[in-house]
Amino acid sequence: MQQHIPVLLPAVIETLRPADSMVMRLIDGTVGGGGHSHALLEAGIDEVLAIDRDTRAIAQARQRLASFGRQVTFYHGSYLEMRNPATAMGWSTVDAILLDLGLSSPQLDDPGRGFSFRYEAPLDMRFDTVDDSATAHDLINKLPAGELADLLFRYGEERHARRIAGAIVEGRPVSTTLELAELVASAIPLPARRSSKIHPATKTFQALRIAVNQELDAVEKVIPIAIDLLRPGGRLAVITFHSLEDRLVKHAFKQLATNVVSPPGMASIQARQAKVKPVTRKPIVPDSKELGANPRSRSAKLRVIEKL
Ligand SMILES: C[S@@+](CC[C@H](N)C(=O)[O-])C[C@H]1O[C@@H](n2cnc3c(N)ncnc32)[C@H](O)[C@@H]1O
Repeated sequence: MQQHIPVLLPAVIETLRPADSMVMRLIDGTVGGGGHSHALLEAGIDEVLAIDRDTRAIAQARQRLASFGRQVTFYHGSYLEMRNPATAMGWSTVDAILLDLGLSSPQLDDPGRGFSFRYEAPLDMRFDTVDDSATAHDLINKLPAGELADLLFRYGEERHARRIAGAIVEGRPVSTTLELAELVASAIPLPARRSSKIHPATKTFQALRIAVNQELDAVEKVIPIAIDLLRPGGRLAVITFHSLEDRLVKHAFKQLATNVVSPPGMASIQARQAKVKPVTRKPIVPDSKELGANPRSRSAKLRVIEKL
């Protein structure tokens, strides 16, 4: 299994590293294998609250970060709950928050998790395998064709969503990743399959994973929670891996950074003060060296804001 290579590491360190020698408290909301946290602790960050929904990721991060001892506190759960462990630790505010969204290489490469169309596996795709929320198997086998097509279109931007949903409904019960990948491929017209650079099931698998883990909903909700927890001058860094996520983050950051004046006589438009300023005007993306060393970084985008 490939170890997860943390993406955009120099830029993350550069934008989140302490500017002075004061105690720096960081929440790593998606600790994964602990690569970013490890580098940030080495760069001088004092204390880390390391969160992940995946118990296996927490176990890997525990190993990777063991040498930092009590500087790191682990929490298994969603980053949406970050205020609870922070409060339990006596942190009313923090200096920096990192969210490296999506899934890690060990998750993608674990044949049993069902994230990849390259390995035969049950259709699970949950980040958190200890909760009893719906799996990809539930969605694939239970949703009506129309809802399934909407899901594939909305979360995978899949042009052939209706045809694929139809093929899945016809092919039920669908039990494994490879069965699903085959059904999807058979539903996509041959010319489209031939001209595409990606595997025909890529968008379907992305859509299912996003839906199973309610990822976009979580991204939307976490930004105000994170801003609330940051001290003035504290920074939030978010790394996204596809356009749906990036659009959400870009839009939310822009709104938070904009002063809104209420025009006279238009009480419906509420005046609002900007809460943040952008640290990165444009998203930071991997350079050719990083792309060469880690092809999985290819769609990563880093955006950083600072609380006013
Ligand atoms: C790209 S990986 C992070 C890799 C990490 N930065 C590193 O350097 O090893 C994303 C991680 O976010 C976790 N995750 C996804 N959604 C989450 C959520 N809502 N709350 C907490 N963790 C989440 C996944 O389980 C996965 O381990």
